[in-house]
Amino acid sequence: MHRTAFHRHPWWDRVIVALDQTSLLDVLTWVERLRPWVTWFKVGPVAFLRHGPALIHTIHQMGARVFLDLKFHDIPSVMESGLRAAYHLRVEMVNFHALSGPEALRSLAQTAQAWLDRPLLIAVTVLTSHDWPPWDPRGSPEAWAERLAGWAFEAGLDGVVCSAGEVPTIRQKYGPDFRTVVPSVRLEAPTDDQRRWATPIEALQVGADWIVLGRVLTGSLEPMAVCEQLNEAFWAGEQIGR
Ligand code: C5P
Repeated sequence: MHRTAFHRHPWWDRVIVALDQTSLLDVLTWVERLRPWVTWFKVGPVAFLRHGPALIHTIHQMGARVFLDLKFHDIPSVMESGLRAAYHLRVEMVNFHALSGPEALRSLAQTAQAWLDRPLLIAVTVLTSHDWPPWDPRGSPEAWAERLAGWAFEAGLDGVVCSAGEVPTIRQKYGPDFRTVVPSVRLEAPTDDQRRWATPIEALQVGADWIVLGRVLTGSLEPMAVCEQLNEAFWAGEQIGR
C-alpha cells in the first residue's frame, strides 16, 4: 500500500535528529521543518556552546524533546554536578562516557534516583567513529561495547549509545528495558568520519530503541524527500521490526 507523508509511521518516535549546526537560525529551521515527523532532537557541544540553555528552552517550546549529548567524561563529583545542571534544563535524555568508570556511573544513577521526571541516563560505549577501541587496538569494539554496557547496566543507568551491530547482544544480555541509542545511521557506506554504521531500517529491525539521524538528513539538499523515503521504507519494513 502506498503511504504518503501524511501517514507518518510510528517508527518516527524512535528517531532522534542531531542538530550539529552552529547557526541558531539553521538549528531552529531544522526543528521547525522536521517537527511534524520527529519528536526527539539532539543538542551536542556545537549548538549548546553557541546558544546555551536558551536553545533547550526554545526546542521545548516548539513541542519537542531534547537529548543533551555532551558526553560527560570526568571525575565523579563533576559529572554529578553536570547531571544536576542538565536536570535543571529539563532535558529528557543526557549522556556520559561509560569509560569514566563504574564508580562515576553509579554516582550518577544514585543522584537521579529520587528525581521526578528525571532524564534518561545513557552511557556512550565505543564511539561509532572507531573501527577498534583506540585504548585497546587489539580488542574488538563489539566486546568493549558489551563490557561498557555492562558497567552502565550494573550502575543502574537507563541504556547506552552503541552501534547497530552491538544491539542484539546488549539486548540479549541486559534485557529490553535497557535502552539502546544508535548513531552512525546511513543510507549507504559512509565516506566521512563514521565507521561502524547501519541503515535506518537495519538499526530499527535489530531492536535499537532510537536511531540518530544526523547528516543523512541535515546534510541532504532535499531533507523532506529523505523523510518521505524513510517513511515509505518504515512502512515496508515494519513487519520484521520489534
Ligand atoms: O551526522 P551523523 O549521523 O554522523 O551524526 C551522528 C551524531 O551522533 C553526532 O551528533 C555525534 O555527535 C553523535 N554520536 C555519535 N557517536 C556516539 C555518540 C553520539 O556519532 N557514540
